[in-house]
Amino acid sequence: MNAPLALLAELTHRCPLRCPYCSNPVELARASAELTTVEWARVFEEAAAIGCLQVHLSGGEPTARRDIVEITAAAHCAGLYTNLITAGVLLDASLMARLKAAGLDHVQLSVQDADPAGAERIGGMRGAHARKEAAARIVREAGLPLTLNAVVHRQNLHNLVLLIETARAWGAARLEIAHVQYYGWALANRDALLPTREQLEEATRIVEVARQTHRGRLVIDYVVPDYHAARPKACMGGWGNRFLGVSPAGHVLPCHAAESIAGMEFPNVRETSLRDAWEDSEAFNRFRGTAWMPAPCRGCERAEQDWGGCRCQAFALTGNAAATDPACALSPQHGLLAAALARSGAPAFRYREFG
Ligand code: SF4
Ligand code: FES
Repeated sequence: MNAPLALLAELTHRCPLRCPYCSNPVELARASAELTTVEWARVFEEAAAIGCLQVHLSGGEPTARRDIVEITAAAHCAGLYTNLITAGVLLDASLMARLKAAGLDHVQLSVQDADPAGAERIGGMRGAHARKEAAARIVREAGLPLTLNAVVHRQNLHNLVLLIETARAWGAARLEIAHVQYYGWALANRDALLPTREQLEEATRIVEVARQTHRGRLVIDYVVPDYHAARPKACMGGWGNRFLGVSPAGHVLPCHAAESIAGMEFPNVRETSLRDAWEDSEAFNRFRGTAWMPAPCRGCERAEQDWGGCRCQAFALTGNAAATDPACALSPQHGLLAAALARSGAPAFRYREFG
């Protein structure tokens, strides 16, 4: 069994933004359910003990936690490389200085669009874009490396060239361009977000050109959407293979969207050690390896490359988490994707919200 490479620590589901593609579950955890500072410190020590090298401090918006500096310090003291995944709208120079002193190693800042009006419509928060630009400056002035994360979809892909220029202008060394993945809130907004094939092809061409143009100055990671694919992605590098997440309420998850699979129960750090959850829990072993696979995955030459695709997507589209991911053209349910593409247009967003 591999060790998990990184821990995704979802510190809270609270967030000032309301992005319609948020990867948090539709049932958001209230602040009263969140793990305490002491509980997170124990999680970080246990994560380091089973081989994790880094922690992504995420949310929601992790800086919405008043103890974000103490949490960062605890992760650093446990020996983990610390990455803050933030919307940036709550970040000022004072907080940045305290986070750096606590041992923060890296900041990943989200951006919703290159055009401020579009960005604020997508994120559902007025004034957010200017605050993000200021946050980028604060991170760079603190001397920390900056990655910009742009989730792209039907309603911002026309600004992709400008998004890449934004990453350069804001001083990012890395840009993640990630097409929306459709579960949770994004599934609820799928008709508004799915790109056309023409948009996808143009985006892929723009990324290839930009990689050449900015070689040595800006690294561009690119995550493509499943809905136009013939084979699925190796989601999470395989269930229970490399990824370990802990939700705000302490559930230990094989992927950030795993709670969207109805009927599955996940161990909780309040009752189980991370080692037991990773090695022995029913939830982590359910789709580990290849023995669980149905046809056509069973015996397929790609079984140990894509691990049958995404369990959350299989559940979201077919109601069966053990089905072959319909993103695979060999799946008998591959036609579900074409049907979704045929329905897509640009209706209004259903914004992320509690309750
Ligand atoms: Fe991957 Fe299964 Fe499709 Fe083979 S049949 S390519 S293992 S999803
Ligand atoms: Fe959960 Fe793919 S998002 S397995």
